[in-house]
Amino acid sequence: MSEIIDDRITHYLNSLRGEVDPLMAEMESFAKERKIPILEWQTADFIEQLILINKPKKVLEVGTAIGYTTIRIAKMLQPGASIETIELSKDNIPLARENFIKAGLEEKIALHEGNALSIIPDLSKDYDIIFLDADKEDYMEYYNQLADKLRVGGILLIDNLLWHGYVVEQEVKENYKASTRVVMELNKIILRDERFKSTILTIGDGLGMCIKL
Ligand SMILES: C[S@@+](CC[C@H](N)C(=O)[O-])C[C@H]1O[C@@H](n2cnc3c(N)ncnc32)[C@H](O)[C@@H]1O
Repeated sequence: MSEIIDDRITHYLNSLRGEVDPLMAEMESFAKERKIPILEWQTADFIEQLILINKPKKVLEVGTAIGYTTIRIAKMLQPGASIETIELSKDNIPLARENFIKAGLEEKIALHEGNALSIIPDLSKDYDIIFLDADKEDYMEYYNQLADKLRVGGILLIDNLLWHGYVVEQEVKENYKASTRVVMELNKIILRDERFKSTILTIGDGLGMCIKL
């Protein structure tokens, strides 16, 4: 459930949702039970739409978790296109791999195991779409690294830019203070960065969409 959107609107939108793919439904329940954060379904729907419009050949995701969004993106890709995704957690990696096989999409997905901050510098510079969804404390560093990894016209998507609404709260829980500070600092930069045409969408937990100029 989104914390930045009125609960009544969230309930209303949930009530309109069509039939959910059984594997996606299973992954959503699993993530909820185990308290593993995955993308909100509406944001994932929106990213699927972008994949259909943009028809990317190369996609990168930073922060795989159990592979929910990876699979949703991979399903929308054109023949010959692929997605790379990076995950650090030893618990999540086998779960993601298992889900890629269950979805029958393991051929389209390359999972890099390890710390994204050390992996990204060695990746190519021609991604069409990059989706950033890892630890918020590192968002500034990721933004700087990833800006160079997109082709001109490519899209950088960044989740959680409204960070559960903490960006407008006076009182922020102690364990969210550092991440909130970084997200707020990044938000100030994003809309003024002349390398991109950017917007922060009030969907899910706030999705940054930065198109490289
Ligand atoms: C919000 S979850 C990703 C959810 C996923 N994108 C989805 O929508 O299904 C964030 C993930 O980033 C991973 N992560 C955090 N820091 C990382 C790092 N430095 N390198 C790679 N993965 C990292 C975490 O282990 C966690 O699984």
